[in-house]
Amino acid sequence: MAQVMMYKRFERFWHWAQALLILSMLITGFEIHGTIHWLGFEAAVNTHIILAWTLIGLWIFAIFWHLTTGEWKQYIPASFAQIMVMVRYYTIGIFQGAEHPFHKTRLKKHNPLQRMAYLSLHVLISPMIWISGLLYLFYASWESWGLEGFSLMIVALIHTAAAFAMLAFLIAHLYLSITMSDKPFGNIKAMITGYEEE
Ligand code: HEM
Repeated sequence: MAQVMMYKRFERFWHWAQALLILSMLITGFEIHGTIHWLGFEAAVNTHIILAWTLIGLWIFAIFWHLTTGEWKQYIPASFAQIMVMVRYYTIGIFQGAEHPFHKTRLKKHNPLQRMAYLSLHVLISPMIWISGLLYLFYASWESWGLEGFSLMIVALIHTAAAFAMLAFLIAHLYLSITMSDKPFGNIKAMITGYEEE
């Protein structure tokens, strides 16, 4: 066992900034939707839009960082057989005290299931939320962009569905990061300090 820098400084910044922004956008978004009554509709819309631009800026930096450092390779999907090994471990092995089938290293820090979950977040849920969000934001320009055939209701529906998917991801991610560690809050500490045992 050796302590290694698993999560670099930018990665930790990006992770926590994104978590904070998404949480705030869930709160303001569901206020716009009418589920929560806290800031008031107008303040919620204004805050949501400021946070949206901040999140888009953060994603641009994160994409640049992943491409230039080669960290994007951490998200290359594993084979179906490798994914099934993980599924078998989480559904059966873990209850029988089986050894964890995946050993984390600096160059391969996500297990096959994590790779699939994070890839879906980055290439499905996030683009779905920002493309529908930008369409929502620029509704007044649809006609001049030749998008008059689009339905605002469908765009709003896609945006809200993506927000629910984001919420579901957040709950599963929090549950797994707290429970799937040998030490109490080990994964959370690693994402704060950057260091983890390899
Ligand atoms: C990143 C780019 C995003 C943009 C540009 C954006 C933009 C918008 C806009 C313009 C609205 C409608 C405001 C109005 O009615 O005037 C809205 C609503 C909403 N947003 Fe976002 N948003 C983004 C991200 C997010 C995220 C990350 C979440 C949650 C995880 C979220 C959740 C919601 C929800 C739940 C609504 C209410 C939808 C409805 O009831 O129709 N948004 N967003």
